[in-house]
Amino acid sequence: MLDVSALPQAARSDRSGTPPRRTFAIISHPDAGKTTLTEKLLLFGGAIQMAGQVRARGDRRRTRSDWLDIERARGISVTSSVMTFEHDGIVFNLLDTPGHADFSEDTYRTLSAVDAAVMVIDAAKGIESQTRKLFEVCRLRDIPIITFINKIDREGHDPLALLDEISSGLALDLTLLTWPLGMGVDFRGILDVGGRKLLLPAKDLKDAFGRTEPVASIETISHPAIEERIAQPALESLALCLSDLPGFDAKAFREGHLSPVIFGSALKDFGVAELLDCLARWAPGALPRKTTGRVVEPDEKDVTGFVFKVQANMDPNHRDRVAFVRLCSGRFRRGMKLFNAREGKMMNIAAPIFFFAQQRETIDEAFPGDIIGIPNHGTLRVGDTLTEGEALRFVGIPNFAPEVLRRVVLEDAMRAKQLNRALGDLAEEGVVQIFRPRDGGWPVLGAVGALQFDVLTSRLAQEYGVAIRLESAPYETARWVMSDKPDAVARFCASNRSSIADDNASDLVFLARNAWALSRAIEEWPDLKFVDVKERH
Ligand code: G4P
Repeated sequence: MLDVSALPQAARSDRSGTPPRRTFAIISHPDAGKTTLTEKLLLFGGAIQMAGQVRARGDRRRTRSDWLDIERARGISVTSSVMTFEHDGIVFNLLDTPGHADFSEDTYRTLSAVDAAVMVIDAAKGIESQTRKLFEVCRLRDIPIITFINKIDREGHDPLALLDEISSGLALDLTLLTWPLGMGVDFRGILDVGGRKLLLPAKDLKDAFGRTEPVASIETISHPAIEERIAQPALESLALCLSDLPGFDAKAFREGHLSPVIFGSALKDFGVAELLDCLARWAPGALPRKTTGRVVEPDEKDVTGFVFKVQANMDPNHRDRVAFVRLCSGRFRRGMKLFNAREGKMMNIAAPIFFFAQQRETIDEAFPGDIIGIPNHGTLRVGDTLTEGEALRFVGIPNFAPEVLRRVVLEDAMRAKQLNRALGDLAEEGVVQIFRPRDGGWPVLGAVGALQFDVLTSRLAQEYGVAIRLESAPYETARWVMSDKPDAVARFCASNRSSIADDNASDLVFLARNAWALSRAIEEWPDLKFVDVKERH
């Protein structure tokens, strides 16, 4: 018997009457179905009239956020975009993360701006490498995660095996929201465990499946309506699953320990409405955010926010630079003046932008959890905090130690000055990291994924008229050197002259020739910390 008494009720109102927001990202490995699910969420959310408007078939990977030529050339989405839609009185802000295997720090920073994540897993593949990486970032920040096991209309792994793989592979507790009634050719629909509904394909559609409709409200899993449709083993698996898995616990979910699981098919519209409902009911609204000094609560009166991304040339006709700001508190109004704590200056926010599907619309006000775009000419940098005057700095917008390092070679030596300025700008934007060796050699560039270098080379040529070549660097890895013992730092630098560099924020970096050199340094210099994640300042 399915116990439905403990099911949570809708929790639509956030604290202090702030209009409810659900700011989330979808994390997945390429091809798991993120784009399809995004499209369907926008469709269910009413942001678009019909699927395919986000991207035409065959053109899908290009239509959504192809602001850079490089994306068009490769037919992939490199940058993150923001999509906002309203459904059932709730504003959903969906922050897109790049789905390509080669990804940048952008992806990680996008996750610093969300309050929840949807993890899409291909039922035939299980957990894949990029899902795992992104999941680890969410875990670091205790972001609540909803698991969407996609493509159940195709042959996939056994549902129980999938649940087991996710919970043991990611050390995550799971609870069941929907259960597949067969998979692949045997797929008949899904069971909405919480809503006690069978969701079956509407029969009157020409398409084999079409939109789903609840055909029956059921009280128990032994109801004949279900038994008719599920083969006995599947029914036993479900019973086992329900007895083994914990029930839904809103607190555990919000703390990031318990993930509700939806078996669905983005393509065939199964589980999408349940996902939207789950986000609306249980995902948190704007969460409090830590600063260096104090925690900022979303219901504070004064406006605060931070820049998690800067994107240049989003519109080639305007050559603009847009800073993406996550609002953390207060009620933002167009025309406000905000204080940039890093620069110690006020700035006028005359034309803030909301991102509504493909259109960029000018807005009058925004609330905690919302993302606004602020066009500017390079005054705003990733990691900047905006307030109404208080000197705050939000934390949690990290730099990651690069996994690939390259040395820059300038084709035309006369353009060294332009190169330096351009690299400084693009490093601020987070396109790559720049390390300037203290021994005076060419700058060394670092990236989390090699694709970032293509983006950099193309932008240097197009936006700054600087042609470069990239050579392999004599280093394999980089670490920031931290210590409260300046003497030890000075001695370390003196004895490792050719491996010492400064990053764009003038922080000390050790460029290690290989893993062995790094472990030797760690062993020999116990007073120093060699860190691979650095907070931006
Ligand atoms: P991504 O953004 O995560 O990279 O994945 P995307 O949505 O582009 O989906 C990758 C492929 O998987 C697409 O097929 C898409 O149609 C398919 N797909 C997504 N969700 C489902 C699902 O629930 N069931 C099934 N059966 N397929 C699904 P494609 O052949 O690469 O593209 P297309 O030719 O269909 O456009």
